[in-house]
Amino acid sequence: MLEDTQLVWVRDAAEGYIQGRITEIGAKEFEVTPTDRKYPKRTCHFDDIHSSCEGPQDHDDNCELMLLNEATFLDNLKTRYYKDKIYTYVANILIAVNPYREIKELYAPDTIKKYNGRSLGELPPHVFAIADKAIRDMRVYKLSQSIIVSGESGAGKTESTKYLLKYLCYSHDSAGPIETKILDANPVLEAFGNAKTTRNNNSSRFGKFIEVHYDAKCQVVGGYISHYLLEKSRICTQSAEERNYHVFYMLLAGAPQQLRDKLSLGKPDDYRYLSGCTQYFANAKTEQLIPGSQKSKNHQQKGPLKDPIIDDYQHFHNLDKALGRLGLSDTEKLGIYSLVAAVLHLGNIAFEEIPDDVRGGCQVSEASEQSLTITSGLLGVDQTELRTALVSRVMQSKGGGFKGTVIMVPLKIYEASNARDALAKAIYSRLFDRIVGLINQSIPFQASNFYIGVLDIAGFEYFTVNSFEQFCINYCNEKLQKFFNDNILKNEQELYKKEGLNVPEITFTDNQDIIELIEAKSNGIFTLLDEESKLPKPSYSHFTAEVHKSWSNHYRLGLPRSSRLKAHRTLRDEEGFLVRHFAGAVCYNTEQFIEKNNDALHASLEGLVQECDNPLLQTLFPSGSSTSVRGKLNFISVGSKFKTQLGELMEKLEQNGTNFIRCIKPNSKMIDRQFEGSLALAQLKCSGTISVLELMEHGYPSRVLFADLYSMYKSVLPPELVSLPARTFCEAMFQSLNLSAKDFKFGITKVFFRPGKFVEFDRIMRSDPENMLAIVAKVKKWLIRSRWVKSALGALCVIKLRNRIIYRNKCVLIAQRIARGFLARKQHRPRYQGIGKINKIRTNTLKTIEIASGLKMGRDEIVSGVNDIYRQIDDAIKKIKLNPRITQREMDSMYTVVMANMNKLTVDLNTKLKEQQQAEEQERLRKIQEALEAERAAKEAEEQRQREEIENKRLKAEMETRRKAAEAQRLRQEEEDRRAALALQEQLEKEAKDDAKYRQQLEQERRDHELALRLANESNGQVEDSPPVIRKSENVRAQQQALGKQKYDLSKWKYSELRDAINTSCDIELLEACRQEFHRRLKVYHAWKAKNRKRTTMDENERAPRSVMEAAFKQPPLVQPIQEIVTAQHRYFRIPFMRANAPDNTKRGLWYAHFDGQWIARQMELHADKPPILLVAGTDDMQMCELSLEETGLTRKRGAEILEHEFNREWERNGGKAYKNLGAKPNGPAAAMQKQQ
Ligand SMILES: Nc1ncnc2c1ncn2[C@@H]1O[C@H](COP(=O)(O)OP(=O)(O)OP(=O)(O)O)[C@@H](O)[C@H]1O
Ligand SMILES: [Mg+2]
Repeated sequence: MLEDTQLVWVRDAAEGYIQGRITEIGAKEFEVTPTDRKYPKRTCHFDDIHSSCEGPQDHDDNCELMLLNEATFLDNLKTRYYKDKIYTYVANILIAVNPYREIKELYAPDTIKKYNGRSLGELPPHVFAIADKAIRDMRVYKLSQSIIVSGESGAGKTESTKYLLKYLCYSHDSAGPIETKILDANPVLEAFGNAKTTRNNNSSRFGKFIEVHYDAKCQVVGGYISHYLLEKSRICTQSAEERNYHVFYMLLAGAPQQLRDKLSLGKPDDYRYLSGCTQYFANAKTEQLIPGSQKSKNHQQKGPLKDPIIDDYQHFHNLDKALGRLGLSDTEKLGIYSLVAAVLHLGNIAFEEIPDDVRGGCQVSEASEQSLTITSGLLGVDQTELRTALVSRVMQSKGGGFKGTVIMVPLKIYEASNARDALAKAIYSRLFDRIVGLINQSIPFQASNFYIGVLDIAGFEYFTVNSFEQFCINYCNEKLQKFFNDNILKNEQELYKKEGLNVPEITFTDNQDIIELIEAKSNGIFTLLDEESKLPKPSYSHFTAEVHKSWSNHYRLGLPRSSRLKAHRTLRDEEGFLVRHFAGAVCYNTEQFIEKNNDALHASLEGLVQECDNPLLQTLFPSGSSTSVRGKLNFISVGSKFKTQLGELMEKLEQNGTNFIRCIKPNSKMIDRQFEGSLALAQLKCSGTISVLELMEHGYPSRVLFADLYSMYKSVLPPELVSLPARTFCEAMFQSLNLSAKDFKFGITKVFFRPGKFVEFDRIMRSDPENMLAIVAKVKKWLIRSRWVKSALGALCVIKLRNRIIYRNKCVLIAQRIARGFLARKQHRPRYQGIGKINKIRTNTLKTIEIASGLKMGRDEIVSGVNDIYRQIDDAIKKIKLNPRITQREMDSMYTVVMANMNKLTVDLNTKLKEQQQAEEQERLRKIQEALEAERAAKEAEEQRQREEIENKRLKAEMETRRKAAEAQRLRQEEEDRRAALALQEQLEKEAKDDAKYRQQLEQERRDHELALRLANESNGQVEDSPPVIRKSENVRAQQQALGKQKYDLSKWKYSELRDAINTSCDIELLEACRQEFHRRLKVYHAWKAKNRKRTTMDENERAPRSVMEAAFKQPPLVQPIQEIVTAQHRYFRIPFMRANAPDNTKRGLWYAHFDGQWIARQMELHADKPPILLVAGTDDMQMCELSLEETGLTRKRGAEILEHEFNREWERNGGKAYKNLGAKPNGPAAAMQKQQ
């Protein structure tokens, strides 16, 4: 068992994460025992385990969590959800968990007032806070804003959008007529565009971007709604649990009798187009108001459907009133209802074969004659013409006969049914376009300066059968995800770089490759589909084959048989394709792609509706817009129309300021008070919020330009501060408010705040006047101090300058002196040299006198001769001194005269001497002979000494050459090592990259798997349960190979078993293998712990000095060589270390280590201020250095190794017991060493 009982989060298939404690460090994973006994013990990979805080979390902003990991994030959402706090932030992104119930006062008018003008974060998180931020940003930055609401079906996008619009229209004044009309648009849009699905009773089957326009004074002046992709297939068919658009049921349940008669309405099960669920939504009261004759059989048996916000009867009346408020007359309203009813009746027209028709044509069945009559009446077309148009198609001949001859081609039953459905879809979808147009007309916005746009578009969708609609929606979601990545993750990181904030980079999965796959101009799926439609005989299988051919090796595209869901694997290759979306893999069935991509009616039906009598229908199909006129090659497909629309939307989003709301569906049962952790976690991951959380761990979500910050508070500041320049003002405020330096950062143009800190700043700035006075006093004090520091610095600079000038002056004087001396010397040099030359003769005379003194006879004559010469010399010098212009020649002649006299005297002296010397010569010669002899002997001795010296020099030179050769060899070795290290580094980086890529793919696979599981749960399908095999990096593989070569397989051994074996085994090889495995696991554990440490944890309790740990990390993670056991020996080390957070005088300490072979046996820390820490392997492993001796680099550290007795002396002095070798064979080498001790 492990002593470390830190609380952790561990992955759980249902809950997302559960709490537990690590109880075992396995070979590749950790074993965790959940704290709640109802969950079984589990063994998980380190990546699925995160640190946990003791006690529950409840933070408004997830960036404030002490541990920023996905598990704590999820826990925070869950805890808050059960406390009815459904909103949270991740930086500036709002997370909204659908409560599926009304929360009291959450959206009340008073709440709207409360959020008015308050900064984000000041009050609890709310959609209103996001709306208010958008309004304020629009005002401050003079920039239109978008609010992107996203999430899966039923997550609460449309509800959030409604609250946003309510805030935008009501926040400042009570709503005027324009605002009311904007709000009225919603029930109308929902009636025609929403339907009950299995995932949401009020599911929006279209996307919308609602713009609320403002004038320069920020008053609402109008609005504009763009809509996208109404789901047309729903008009004709629905699955059993689902319904058609609400308006059909509303009309059938709520229309007054008079209208019912006019439209010949019955009950839901009378209509083929309402073949799915036929029950109405009603409450107890309205259920009574709907007559039984208007209810379907199913409704009568099961009763009404219930939903707090849907009521078919009541909503018909609301719709009628809302249409009135939008400015529609009763006749116009009737026109709309007539077309809705006409669609219902049209659906009831059935066809049958004409008995003897050789051309295989069909006719309207007898039973549907009445429907045909009602339909033609409601549409205002001739009944016979409608009949003909439904069962035949007009074609113009191209060749043969007369070019342009009209031919009537009879249709087969299925073709006629398709034509009928196409007509119904065209009428309904154009009616929907018209209704949106009417709403837009009622809220014109000519005087607009800016707008706030709210985007509510269907989230990522996946069913067992996915068709063209899902393909378009998921493509749209990919684009929005890319926008989110670029906007939040990429741009944010670029901004940090540009402003020099030094925030570490985070990686995220870029989905550009999927977008390319779908929209590439040359071979994107949309292009391939359009090209297929232009062929003479388009076929879905050919199209699908083309898709697979064009993208055969693309990771994002696969064959249906590669799906994890069994239901998809029955599809043939040419029946579908699988796209690996950012949120998970979706398998598309392509059978209907070609028809759905072309919404054109055939010519006879188009002509019919263009020439009808119904004025509304006429406006829906204006003549001249006909597709048949444009021809097949020029038709505009649904896909390309959507691509263009989406392009325009993206352009708008890119130009605007952006705000994000991520809606989360807490459970798939659509009930309150139930939080399915894994479901929520999957949504959080897909929406990119987890990546943002990671970024925000080091990021600064709030930022403001210096100038803006300054102008924001200008009005509340006293004049002495207002006059400061913007940047100085900001500096002064931040420094004097004592904000912690880690809470904000100064960029180049902006100041950045850590999550929640801008609010703190704002709160201080707007505090009461008394507090403000105190702040102003502080700022003034700071200003005075900083100005004083600046002037002191100025004075210092002036003093420095003065000293420099003085120094230079001195230098100039020296230079002058030297130059002058030089010039004088140059001028007088011939004279003083001349004097010197003559004076030399005087010196010579001294010698003459000296020699003369040795004369036994005639000495006085010589002396008087010498005195004479002295006189001559003095005269000559006098002459030279007195005459500055004396020439060289004059001086030379004077010299020559004196010299000649001198020579004469010398000759005289010599003669005298010679005589005297001849007598002494014999004696002198003998003495010279003796001297020469002595000199020769000395010379020989000297030569001998020199020879020895040369020999020594030669030896030294030889040594030096040897040393140099050794040095060169060492350098060469180092260069080789460096190159090898670089190559290894490169290889490791490549492996790390591959590994990261692989992990991303693994994450993708996990999402695919989870998604398939959810689908399987919903549809009772089956999922292939083989989890993806984790690919190991080369490095890991190498390690495992190395392990594999070992004699023992220890991967199944428990941590405690390893420990026991080390303590008790006598098998040296096993012992060494155990020690290696034991320390490898320790390393993995400590690495995990370091990665998961709390944000506040300091570098206390290190297991070895930082220099040792760093040396180990710098080393490439080579495969550990299997250690030579026999050479294992005891080595001892001592190194000093520094403690980062200790007071200065106690920072230094000494770390002693005793290695028994490759692994630590004893370790001791000596501190200045605390008792020594002595640790022994076998009992204190968790606190000891887990690195091998080789990894620590200690053997290469100069002066680190010490002698055994030095170590033992310190050890015993500090109370350590004598060392006993752990588990080694008594007669092994270690024991032998011990005996020697
Ligand atoms: N804030 C909320 N308070 C109470 N109930 C809510 C809230 N948000 C959503 N709901 C409930 O959840 C249901 C589904 O929400 P909504 O229609 O907004 O989902 P959606 O994300 O728009 O789904 P779809 O993509 O299918 O249109 C609502 O009908 C309502 O009952
Ligand atoms: Mg919706």
